[in-house]
Amino acid sequence: MKLAIVGGGSTYTPELIDGFARLRDTLPIGELVLIDPAADRLELIAGLARRIFARQGHSATVTTAPDVAAGVQGADAVLLQLRVGGQAARNEDETWPLECGCVGQETTGAGGLAKALRTVPVVLDIAEQVRRANPAAWIVDFTNPVGIVTRALQTAGHRAVGLCNVAIGFQRKFAAHLGVDPGLVRLDHVGLNHLTWERGVTLLDAPGSADGREVLPELLAAHGEALAADLHLPLPVIRRLGVVPSYYLRYFYQHDLVVEELKEKGSRAAEVAAIEKQLLDLYADPTLDSKPDLLGKRGGAFYSEAAVQLIASLLGTGGGTAGGTSVQVVNTRNDGILPFLPDDAVIEVPAEVDADGVRPLPQRPVEPLYAGLIAAVTAYEHLALEAALKGGRDRVFDALLAHPLVGQLDLADRLTDRLIAHNRAHLGWA
Ligand code: G6P
Ligand code: MN
Repeated sequence: MKLAIVGGGSTYTPELIDGFARLRDTLPIGELVLIDPAADRLELIAGLARRIFARQGHSATVTTAPDVAAGVQGADAVLLQLRVGGQAARNEDETWPLECGCVGQETTGAGGLAKALRTVPVVLDIAEQVRRANPAAWIVDFTNPVGIVTRALQTAGHRAVGLCNVAIGFQRKFAAHLGVDPGLVRLDHVGLNHLTWERGVTLLDAPGSADGREVLPELLAAHGEALAADLHLPLPVIRRLGVVPSYYLRYFYQHDLVVEELKEKGSRAAEVAAIEKQLLDLYADPTLDSKPDLLGKRGGAFYSEAAVQLIASLLGTGGGTAGGTSVQVVNTRNDGILPFLPDDAVIEVPAEVDADGVRPLPQRPVEPLYAGLIAAVTAYEHLALEAALKGGRDRVFDALLAHPLVGQLDLADRLTDRLIAHNRAHLGWA
């Protein structure tokens, strides 16, 4: 099996490599191609990847390619993990919205829109090259904003699925609290990427079993404090709602408070840039042959496990239950699963995954408290995609006006001006 990683020169790649090495029985990779235009970084990361594989006795070869068309030849699956404009662009996304009293975040709100506008055309161009090289290849998108990027890919007819680590993170956390294997924990996870709620947690009788019992009430009773502290959300609210929102909901539920906090502390982009610098120094050490602990300071915990499970199921190499089908939380087309959303919306829910593809599981009705926000952000995502595909100030403005964290004419106007001013180099039409 051949796998390609676009953005393979990322400092995150060793997280994936570590998972590929540990889980090689589930996903037997023969060749891994790291694709990145940054030649220096690429060789550095490829060297470490080879050492990690060698140390763990994995026989896969690691090759590099500067451009997508050459690198994805013959690949069975292509992972997208790129960041247009790097941490410098992220730093801007996290900064200028604050000048207008709005959250500055890489995927939520106005900063997330800027990232979508920069990213969608680049990802669509890459996907086109993948399709030309190998129409049967699966595209697994980690590139944020995953909801909008996946919607762009699926609308353009690509064989794509979006992946985020929020769900697997909750699965691992709940399993640790329950003292059980993560494979026994199934989430009732619903919403959009970075806008989700855990409405239930089933402790399965056996891995892959359809039977089990609901344990969320007891998890909240016994471990509510720890969960609330992790999410920085007030415990009484979580207990009363009886659900666990993802930490991205804090940008909505405590928006103004978060804005004040963000104004005080430096950007996450600056923090990440400093971590990346240290990581690159560590990676340059030819004796390093494992993932350094410092990588744990990044937000990508369990990405590799999530990716291995998903790709193994899509390629039919394992990881599933009887019949090769497994249930995993992914981003994919709604197609009526949440009846209050258009069919072409991309939702994040558990889905059956196997070599036939991804089939989101039916969901019980979503409570108005969550459905309203999901619907509003879906409308924003539709308009954001329109703006990313067609450009123009009015489309940017409309997307911001539709966003529940913006919603006012004057604010949308000021944010639009700033978004365009800060991203002119990336926007063909501006
Ligand atoms: C989580 C999110 C990702 C996001 C990352 C940021 O993993 O699910 O979508 O990119 O956090 O982590 P960072 O270390 O870059 O702040
Ligand atoms: Mn994510």
